[in-house]
Amino acid sequence: MESILIRGGRRLSGRLVVQGAKNSILPILAASLLNCQGVHLQRVPDLDDVRNMLAILSSLGAEVNFSGDEVVLDTAGVKEYHVPDYLMREMRSGIFLLGPLLSRLGKVRVCYPGGCAIGPRPINLHLGGLQALGARVEESNGFITLSGRLKGTRTGLDYPSVGATENLMLAAVMAEGETVIYNAAREPEIVDLQNFLNKGGARVSGAGSSTVVIRGVKELHRTSYRVFPDRIVSGTYLMAAAITGGELTLEDIIPGHLTAVTNLLRESGAAMEIGADQISIRGGEIAAIRLACTSPYPGFPTDLQAPLTALMTVANGRSLIVEKVFKKRFRHIPELQKMGARISQKNSHVAIVGVPHLTGAGVEATDLRAGAALVLAGLAARGETVIKGIRYIDRGYDDLPRVLVLLGADIERVKKPAVSQPGSGSRKV
Ligand code: UD1
Repeated sequence: MESILIRGGRRLSGRLVVQGAKNSILPILAASLLNCQGVHLQRVPDLDDVRNMLAILSSLGAEVNFSGDEVVLDTAGVKEYHVPDYLMREMRSGIFLLGPLLSRLGKVRVCYPGGCAIGPRPINLHLGGLQALGARVEESNGFITLSGRLKGTRTGLDYPSVGATENLMLAAVMAEGETVIYNAAREPEIVDLQNFLNKGGARVSGAGSSTVVIRGVKELHRTSYRVFPDRIVSGTYLMAAAITGGELTLEDIIPGHLTAVTNLLRESGAAMEIGADQISIRGGEIAAIRLACTSPYPGFPTDLQAPLTALMTVANGRSLIVEKVFKKRFRHIPELQKMGARISQKNSHVAIVGVPHLTGAGVEATDLRAGAALVLAGLAARGETVIKGIRYIDRGYDDLPRVLVLLGADIERVKKPAVSQPGSGSRKV
């Protein structure tokens, strides 16, 4: 099994064009099921989750071609409504197939989806919304079966769930009449989905606000679309530059998507320059941040909570981070402690007292963003860090080690832990 080996202490420097957004491409690939005339996607990141979604589409009868960062899809032949269990269990995003398959075939069956271990991830909002659109929902023996003809409706989410907003949009695109989703999530990836759908002839408006309106259409036409750059990956690389005291420019991105992140990085002492489509950071002495709370967009993203925690482990002073979206997303903390971080956590509050330096250790990624946090810690630590669980990192970062090597890091994939003495050096807790 592969691990990542990092010899810490090198400053990152350079320029980077960031990969396409994982959280955009997954619902967009599911949305392609609604378009029988062909879809051409650009800036597609090569991620395990993307390959998994493509495998699902192929198993349902779609023709799939993934080459470079482009995907060409022909879903005209899709007739199968049961998503293979082994693929569904691989990732949470299989849930996006409910809306489009139901809309397309009048029926869909899936087992409960898998995904990263970041605490309970219920799907009640997805199912409740689809029911409001007219779906019959049966749950038995670990399977969910939805059937029926969908009809536009006015419905509200109890919480602005990103995935539920997207699923309802997908279900409503070809439903009869008008659908209004109140208390919708406002994440940029929802705007990306709207833009993709509308380019193919859908009539969706309001994405990015808390009310999304979808007027049903009979069919979609051939579409070519370029996915948004990934704001979470962008934030990760900015923090990687900050934690190593390096300099980095991200090109061809949408800086407005990262306002909460760049503001916090500024507060932590980094010099930030924000252009029309690029962000530059120059790291220096890292200051503790008084308080950061994760929240739905435009707040600070939960997906960057673990990387921010890693950054604060070497800040001057005491930081407080409050996780308000996934209240059990803290499995990176014991791993960071193995590297000498001084962190205490109670309920959703995380207090971090910065230490002068971290020490390389053998650690394990337990979910995607926890993995990113450990990579940041390893880049800053003295000595060697070996991170197990690289498969989680590959779910969301398109070859992270290669990108970091290009920026000057000493990092590689290794077959077995090659570190002489993982965890050598004193523990600082
Ligand atoms: C999406 C992102 C994920 C990000 C998260 C929050 C994708 C593929 N993934 O996940 O990277 O961390 O948004 O920004 O886009 N909830 C319910 N019932 C539901 C659905 C959600 O109670 O039916 C709760 C969740 O447990 C969580 C909160 O709502 O506490 C937010 O979840 P949601 O916005 O749905 O996240 P995802 O769409 O799963």
